[in-house]
Amino acid sequence: MKTVICGTGSAIPEYRMDNCELSQLVDTNDEWIRERTGIQARHIAKKETTVSLAAGAAKAALENSGISSEEVDLIIVSTISSEVILPCTACEVQRMIGASNAVCFDLNAACSGFVLAYNTAAAGITAGIYKTALVIGSECLSKLTNWKDRGTCILFGDGAGAVVLKGEEGEGRIPFACSDGESGNVLTCKTGLGQISEGEEYMQMDGQEVFKFAVRKVPEAIREVLSRNNIGPEKVDWYILHQANKRIVEAVARHLKEPIEKFPVNMQEYGNTSSASIPVLLDDMNRTGVLKRGQTVVIAGFGAGLTWCASMLEW
Ligand code: COA
Repeated sequence: MKTVICGTGSAIPEYRMDNCELSQLVDTNDEWIRERTGIQARHIAKKETTVSLAAGAAKAALENSGISSEEVDLIIVSTISSEVILPCTACEVQRMIGASNAVCFDLNAACSGFVLAYNTAAAGITAGIYKTALVIGSECLSKLTNWKDRGTCILFGDGAGAVVLKGEEGEGRIPFACSDGESGNVLTCKTGLGQISEGEEYMQMDGQEVFKFAVRKVPEAIREVLSRNNIGPEKVDWYILHQANKRIVEAVARHLKEPIEKFPVNMQEYGNTSSASIPVLLDDMNRTGVLKRGQTVVIAGFGAGLTWCASMLEW
């Protein structure tokens, strides 16, 4: 049994903050942010929430797939920034979309979260436990951002993306994922539930270390997933990477010796939306007809933990 994506959706907050507006809040400028990151704007939730964005993306994905909410038997929401702990975001989505037959839970693996949620759902479908799954990445990172820290606030944005998965006859794909908890201190954020020092409730990051980690580990993950599935890079139509920084995407393409045209980006419009970035990009590509049935797609995530991963799918 293999897993196919039969619908995509996204939900983006209305309020758009470009680099010029951001440079009125903190000592930075449009040129620096564009050159170092490729980001030109981000969307910030004013009236939206992590739950409402997740439900919006889920509804759009179901509509796109033609599948009814009652048919969904699994909902996983990947998030690090939900305003609700109990009930979990996935149960809130279930209530809002009327997916009364679904098992629902949240997953936190930061910017690798969508790929790991996809793997979890795909494994459940392959094992015959579930038939139809909704996998959602939803984030309001603006709530975890220190708007006085120019090393981080230029990077992040809010949004949600979702895919509908179904099982089909055929051979499943083997994913790759890895974590390194020893290096977790390069990207952190604490809740107020434990003892924290000032500023620790916001994302804190050693940008250069994270950059080096991503450039080293993402090509390794992609090579490993290609090897596990006996596929050469020339057979891959699209590499859809977590949208953190354009220079990271370019460096990964160089390491793999693959044409940059195979690496679509949309961080210029949304910034880094953590676990939402890959499904939002998939939805952009699906709705504009860029993705064609039968194409081979590699998705790859990386981020806090540290965690990194890659999976392969046929569109
Ligand atoms: N605007 C203007 N200048 C800035 C700035 C900003 N927002 N942030 C830093 N600078 C300055 C620094 O003070 C430094 O000045 P100096 O040379 O006079 O000391 C200079 O720019 C270079 O800073 P540096 O931190 O070396 O920049 P960088 O090229 O490493 O870029 C990041 C910083 C954060 C953009 C980059 O490290 C990065 O993207 N890392 C990965 C982060 C990431 O993707 N995290 C999420 C992973 S899921």
